[in-house]
Amino acid sequence: MLLVLVLLVPAGAAVAANAGFAPVEPESPNAEAINDSYAWVAIFTGAIFLLVQGSLLWFIYRYRRGRRPRGEDGAQVHGNTNLELAWTIAPVLILVAIGSFVFYKLPDIKDIPSASAAGGEPVEVTVKGYRFYWQYTYPNGVIAMDRMRAPVDRNVSLAITAPEFDVIHSWWIPALGGKFDAIPGETNESWFRAERAGVYRGQCAEFCGIQHAVMTAEVEAVPGDEFDEWLESEAEAQEAGESDLGEQTYAAACAKCHGLAGQGDIGPPLAGSALAADPELAEEIVRNGRGEMPPIGQDWEERQMAALTEYLQEGLGSGG
Ligand code: CUA
Repeated sequence: MLLVLVLLVPAGAAVAANAGFAPVEPESPNAEAINDSYAWVAIFTGAIFLLVQGSLLWFIYRYRRGRRPRGEDGAQVHGNTNLELAWTIAPVLILVAIGSFVFYKLPDIKDIPSASAAGGEPVEVTVKGYRFYWQYTYPNGVIAMDRMRAPVDRNVSLAITAPEFDVIHSWWIPALGGKFDAIPGETNESWFRAERAGVYRGQCAEFCGIQHAVMTAEVEAVPGDEFDEWLESEAEAQEAGESDLGEQTYAAACAKCHGLAGQGDIGPPLAGSALAADPELAEEIVRNGRGEMPPIGQDWEERQMAALTEYLQEGLGSGG
């Protein structure tokens, strides 16, 4: 029986890893440190699980009633100093081992690397959680929605927050580090350094309302040169009102309730809506909300609002 259990646990772990129950492969130094801590804790908890369940099964077998009559008491044991010392000291040692390792790893997880550290001076991105989208702002003013672009092999520091009029969300891209709440009026700091190019997916991890489930986040890591070029040309395009900011804003902030084609979903249809096509009315609703709709763009900069209302006016980008 015990043998079966011993064989089942690693088999279960292997299945779990493939089915997505094991942590994702870390792709950033802070995520690696979190994963190391997880593995360290798992060694102890795994061993304790086997010990407790194994003893349980063994005791059931070893101390089964057997031939002892039903009315007869078993052997009476009064204290065992060595045993009592052992089950006091062993847990203390285990907790010390777990605690010291986690505290040893904590700076790697928490501390945003200095400019002289590997990965160089961090690119600072402000991450704001709104119902039900993420807005990113770069130091040169570039705004991005839901999908953040970031350079590979460079530190990216994150100032994670939410506007005063919103609710708590939670920023989490598992491959790129820990989970941080985006709290109205507060700022939490985190960072990552993507080790290779690719798209890293995440999800708002704090229940924030009816469309929480579709409040996804992505980080697209691209080579450093490509990132610098994009950031510069995107700044110019947004300045000139020639970027796709309107479309991005629509997809992130409007489409989750009104449909990507404006067909309506939990919110009324916007396609063909005279109200949506009127920039002043649209802005009034986006800034102040209406009925069930939160004031999704109360604190947007003018150019983001202009990009959205222009996109709506053009019939959701269809030009019609
Ligand atoms: Cu935002 Cu859940």
